[in-house]
Amino acid sequence: MTETHSLDVVHARAPGKINVSLKVGAVMEDGYHDVATAYQAVSLYEDVRAWHADDFSVSFTGPIDSKGVPVDATNLAIKAARLLARKTKYRGGVRLEIEKHVPVAGGMGGGSADAAATLVACDALWGTNLSRDDMLALCAQLGSDVPFSYLGGTAIGTGRGDRLSPALAKGHFHWVLAIADFGLSTPTVYSELDAHRERNVHDIAPSPVSPQVDPLVLHALRAGDPHMLADALSNDLQAPALHLEPSLKLVLELGEKNGALAGIVSGSGPTIAFLMADNEAAIDLQVTLSAAQHHALRVTGPVHGARIVND
Ligand code: C5P
Repeated sequence: MTETHSLDVVHARAPGKINVSLKVGAVMEDGYHDVATAYQAVSLYEDVRAWHADDFSVSFTGPIDSKGVPVDATNLAIKAARLLARKTKYRGGVRLEIEKHVPVAGGMGGGSADAAATLVACDALWGTNLSRDDMLALCAQLGSDVPFSYLGGTAIGTGRGDRLSPALAKGHFHWVLAIADFGLSTPTVYSELDAHRERNVHDIAPSPVSPQVDPLVLHALRAGDPHMLADALSNDLQAPALHLEPSLKLVLELGEKNGALAGIVSGSGPTIAFLMADNEAAIDLQVTLSAAQHHALRVTGPVHGARIVND
């Protein structure tokens, strides 16, 4: 056995995210929207295990239903592994097993976390040892939210959301997530926003020329103050997501009537994230939502980005 084959299996983990602020600007030349977002990585992780193989394959386990997620070359984890192999001229393949905890098409960056964790796992398994900057460049080729899942913590994203600068954040925020039993397609939600803007619907803000994260959000994150952050949460994709799935309005109302400081659609939805004052309030809301037949989880943020787990 050669040196690079000394590891039999590598386990890596990458977090899902909540956009505590998401401002969407105009469509850029590449077809993506110009955004300004504040990301917070939360304690819901994708666990990726990687074994040496001659070709590339992926399978899913874990509590989240991954029916409908492709396992062919279009799968984002397979794309990540193939991209790293191409970049480093690695000639073998990998067998990937993904333990899914982040909802599929849920607006929390689950697929992005799969890609980030896969890059970290394969880099260790194959001994390719890419630098942080090279890894970030590969992340950005794979998807707008992949660089953030790789870095974790709290960060501001601009451009497609992939140009990151770290943001100062203090303490831990407590969230309750209401997980829907359906998904929303990100391009569909962006298109809905564009369609609303074209029709000039009054409850949707016009596209800002150069989107910016509200300074109040940065202040609240720096202060570690959930009350301040609750007042500043905002997501331009919330109105189009609620328009596509009006039932989500009832979920938001239920949380806000039962102790949440505020609720927000996470990314392009349909997951709803409720910001709580503390862990006790989070436990109470989780119980209330569960009693109303909602799938509710408690998470905290910020947490670290993609990394190897030593089992
Ligand atoms: O980058 P990612 O593959 O995650 O994006 C999925 C889709 O979301 C894109 O194809 C695009 O339709 C939309 N999107 C966008 N503007 C962004 C990010 C994503 O329009 N900044």
